[in-house]
Amino acid sequence: MVHRVLEIPAAFRLTQLLNPFTTGIYRRLLREHAPQDPHALLLDLGCGLGDYLDMVECRALGVDVNPAYMAKAAEHHGPRFAAATAMDLPFQSETFDAVLIMATCHHLSNEQVLSALEECFQVLKPHGYVLIIDPVLPSPLWFWKWALFKLDRGKHLRTFAQLKAVAGEHYRVEASPVVRGLLHDVVALRITR
Ligand SMILES: C[S@@+](CC[C@H](N)C(=O)[O-])C[C@H]1O[C@@H](n2cnc3c(N)ncnc32)[C@H](O)[C@@H]1O
Repeated sequence: MVHRVLEIPAAFRLTQLLNPFTTGIYRRLLREHAPQDPHALLLDLGCGLGDYLDMVECRALGVDVNPAYMAKAAEHHGPRFAAATAMDLPFQSETFDAVLIMATCHHLSNEQVLSALEECFQVLKPHGYVLIIDPVLPSPLWFWKWALFKLDRGKHLRTFAQLKAVAGEHYRVEASPVVRGLLHDVVALRITR
């Protein structure tokens, strides 16, 4: 029931506003790892309300499986959004310099992550990379972080090692150190062929 409510854009935005600790880490990692070239084109895959598109230094488009989020994102950030699933992207080959997948991998099974990565490399230019920024399971000793993440809408929670292993099965992965937040631990993975 709570998870269904979060599919409503205003409810999802409220959860984001209530957790500046984690969104602050997302922003920091995005600033560190997103393309700095103003001519580069980034795809934000699973972009939610599209709030991160305006903070990157490059051009950016967003897709998300939830059409209600896409309508709200377009109201705030202009016509830069499409409703689509990560496993079937509506773009031509070699369109993007980078694909961001932020806080979305824990909504996807291992098979879906691999299928989404395959799709990403289809639409990426040869030099392009995928940037996964995702919360990871902490040790249960951090019981409040562990319990909070267990309540998440995403049903595919992983440790850092598990997330790295999924992508590492077929691709080269460079990982940031885990950033330990008050409510979530977050990692950035830069993935290339
Ligand atoms: C926790 S939200 C993160 C949204 C945004 N990236 C952010 O950080 O604010 C996860 C997003 O993944 C989207 N999503 C889940 N499964 C998806 C799929 N198969 N294809 C595309 N988007 C998906 C959801 O609709 C939701 O917007």
